Amino acid sequence: MGKKLFIKTQGCQMNEYDSNRMQDLLNLSHGFETTSEEEEADLILLNTCSIREKAQEKVFHQLGRWKRLKEKNPNLKIGVGGCVASQEGASIIKRAPQVDMIFGPQTIHRVPTLYENLENQNHPAIDTSFPKTEKFDHLPSPRAEGCSAFVSIMEGCNKYCSFCVVPHTRGNEISRPLEEVIQEVDSLAKKGVKDVTLLGQNVNSYRDSKIKTKGLGLSNLIREVATVAGIERIAYTTSHPFEFGQDLIDIYKEIPKLISHVHLPVQSGSNDILKLMRRRHTKEEYLEIIEKLKLARPEMSLSSDFIVGFPGETDKDFQDTMDVVEKVGYDESFSFIYSPRPNTTAKDLQDSVSDQVKKERLEYLQQKLESSALSISRRMVGKVRKCLVTGISKKDPGEFQARADNNKIVIFACNDQSIIGSFINLEIVEARNKTLKGVLAT
Ligand code: SAH
Ligand code: F3S
Repeated sequence: MGKKLFIKTQGCQMNEYDSNRMQDLLNLSHGFETTSEEEEADLILLNTCSIREKAQEKVFHQLGRWKRLKEKNPNLKIGVGGCVASQEGASIIKRAPQVDMIFGPQTIHRVPTLYENLENQNHPAIDTSFPKTEKFDHLPSPRAEGCSAFVSIMEGCNKYCSFCVVPHTRGNEISRPLEEVIQEVDSLAKKGVKDVTLLGQNVNSYRDSKIKTKGLGLSNLIREVATVAGIERIAYTTSHPFEFGQDLIDIYKEIPKLISHVHLPVQSGSNDILKLMRRRHTKEEYLEIIEKLKLARPEMSLSSDFIVGFPGETDKDFQDTMDVVEKVGYDESFSFIYSPRPNTTAKDLQDSVSDQVKKERLEYLQQKLESSALSISRRMVGKVRKCLVTGISKKDPGEFQARADNNKIVIFACNDQSIIGSFINLEIVEARNKTLKGVLAT
């Protein structure tokens, strides 16, 4: 019987992408089949996130639970990858000696070798180095599951925002050659993918690495992806307000395949806090980009990440954030209380904001964000939208799930199973909490 692999993924979409690629790799190298039952696994991998302290704590709780599985099955191997692995390295084993293997986000391609080595050595296998784009050269062409796929276009981040651990755990920015990205998109399209999301921590600093002097940027890449036969919908995430040039705004007028949704994290609306965060832009510059995007695409939907309770954040600073929320009118967004992270420059800043105030601000912000998202949904009721049917509804297996052209999820009923993967027109009939209800429009 073939060996079984169980992977648990924490954190961002890059981690999800990496986990999928590890499944492909281990299937090729050792015939591993993926299982959803951890009890029957021969190898368990945890792809970790260290963006906030809470995320990091989850890692050790999870490893604690798996320790018991190992007591029952001494042949079980446990590997830890991702950002906690990159940050903590071998020290994870001190706290969790049940771990056999440690690898970073840039060494996932070496996992089969690390696993192989475990057979011949009686100590853990560790590799958290940052080899350049070697990772992509060693990954098999991806499987396609359904009509949507992620394609990683760059790795790491050079921005060093003062609160953020990513540049430390994922290393410096490296873009994949444009040609290679197009090949991957093409191979996915041939397997039935119609909808691709270009992925990276900082996609608008994408530069085709083959062209030395003036590398082609994200807008050019989008233009190329749009020419791949079979690709009908394109998205990207995450972009940064710094380096969001006019070319990226104009491309919305030029390429209708680009969805009418941008996730553009602002973090804070206060210029003082933005400066302390080292975000390299002001509130006004951010709002100007939003204005231009709305002009280029009137139906544009926007979302953001927010951090509240950054050291020194005053009521006035928080109000500036709320002002941005009001002016932009965001769709579904993410908000967090600031959490000091190792190696970051903000970690030593004097924090004067009480926990109570941080919680109150977060609650208030989230309430406003929710009602803003709901009012966007309500405005869609009665309208017909072009939607891509992505699969069966997660909540109700009797219904289907689709994504509207502004990224909203629409649930609808239909008798025809073969509708999955098609573009259809749905009339929006109801705005629910996070989703919309639609009916087939004739
Ligand atoms: N590359 C993205 C963000 C990556 S991290 C960007 O350009 O913004 C995802 C989100 O986690 C961030 O946008 C931020 O809102 C949040 N985050 C990052 N570090 C954090 C910290 N130390 N405390 C709280 N939230 C944090
Ligand atoms: Fe983090 Fe800022 Fe880069 S939030 S991922 S350092 S752009």
